[in-house]
Amino acid sequence: MDTVAETSLPVLPVETPEFSADPDRFLEAARREHPWLARFSQGYVVHGYQACADLMADDRNLICGFGPVIDFYGVRGSMWARFMEEIVISQSGPAHARLRGSVAHAFTPRRANREREMMQRTIEALLDQWAPRGSFDFAEFASYFPVTVMCGLLGVSAEPIPRMRDALENQLKSLTLDPAAKPLFMAGWDVLWDFADSLVTEREASGLHDADSLLDDIIAAKQRGELDATEARFMVLTVAVAGYDTSKNQLTVTMKLLLDRPDLYRRCAEDLQFCRKVAEESLRHSAIATPYREVAHDFTYGGRQFRKGDTLVMAAPLANRDPAVFADPTRFDPERENAGRHVAFGRGPHICIGQYIARNQMQEGLHIIARRLQNPRPAGQPEWRPFLGAWGLKSLPIAFDPA
Ligand code: HEM
Repeated sequence: MDTVAETSLPVLPVETPEFSADPDRFLEAARREHPWLARFSQGYVVHGYQACADLMADDRNLICGFGPVIDFYGVRGSMWARFMEEIVISQSGPAHARLRGSVAHAFTPRRANREREMMQRTIEALLDQWAPRGSFDFAEFASYFPVTVMCGLLGVSAEPIPRMRDALENQLKSLTLDPAAKPLFMAGWDVLWDFADSLVTEREASGLHDADSLLDDIIAAKQRGELDATEARFMVLTVAVAGYDTSKNQLTVTMKLLLDRPDLYRRCAEDLQFCRKVAEESLRHSAIATPYREVAHDFTYGGRQFRKGDTLVMAAPLANRDPAVFADPTRFDPERENAGRHVAFGRGPHICIGQYIARNQMQEGLHIIARRLQNPRPAGQPEWRPFLGAWGLKSLPIAFDPA
């Protein structure tokens, strides 16, 4: 049997600005050469829907972790590397089940629904500040929404947001495998660690508890012995990092899709239920996450042998445009019946724990934004972020009529 190294495969230039601005142009040609796999400079890109769904869920043959990223930057032994290696997303089997299980009850659909009012208040308050301007960069505006919601979920003051926002912004830059990102995410990491450390230390010392807050759920898990002191701080940071860039980028690409469809945008203002459909189809049409996997030992999938140590990128944004599953995949159609089959939140044991929060946040956000920012239109060229890590728009200048 051929190893993937011996297989003739197309190359997808996923690290380039041209790819991130228009992946379909490259994808169609790549699909003609191989239906689900391509090469990139650091390994392989899994772009077929079924392969992506199967391999994202495969916790036996694949390690879900950041070893290749840590080695790329040569930062083994640093506290940042320890964070990347020890957090829930990097664990498998019982270690993963322990970390995820310690906070899973805080991420149920019921609990996420309880936060809808807080999400509504958050976006209304942001719009009170931003809407009178009549124009702004939607990506910048959107960046304040998930981080403020995150503070609400944790049950902590929004005061650290200005310094947290930049630090968070820089964390997922590590996944772009750009050497220039290293000083940014390393400096941001120190800010984030201080934030998590002081939150946990002060809340524990205060003895005050808020049964509804995620911070207290994490502290309770520590007190039950399910998390140690460092793991509790890492958990605060994992949730903050995993929920920030993802949510703001997904909301921003949704706005971009709606700029071309004023009819759909107006329906969002009228109908929260329709916002659910728009959010789901946005996750299908323009998913933003590309999780990494490392091959744990030689194994075979789809008639190809992968070798221990190979790096795979699970390209959810490309898998969600697989025409074998989604008819006319580049069309944005909120009425699409199978939009919910998307793999934007991953699959298997690591499926996004924050998916119900992310969905509610998008739905409530869209509904209120569409009511308060009327007739939105482009006011400049959008700029794309790197495809790897957290794809989406770096900037989306818009003008609108404040309601
Ligand atoms: C639109 C927004 C979001 C997207 C597209 C997204 C996407 C993903 C994906 C694809 C994974 C799986 C990673 C893998 O398989 O390696 C994941 C995992 C995770 N997400 Fe999200 N996410 C979003 C929002 C959030 C939010 C709001 C939170 C927290 C409140 C969150 C917390 C996490 C955590 C902790 C994991 C790791 C789960 C585990 O390893 O068991 N995410 N997310």
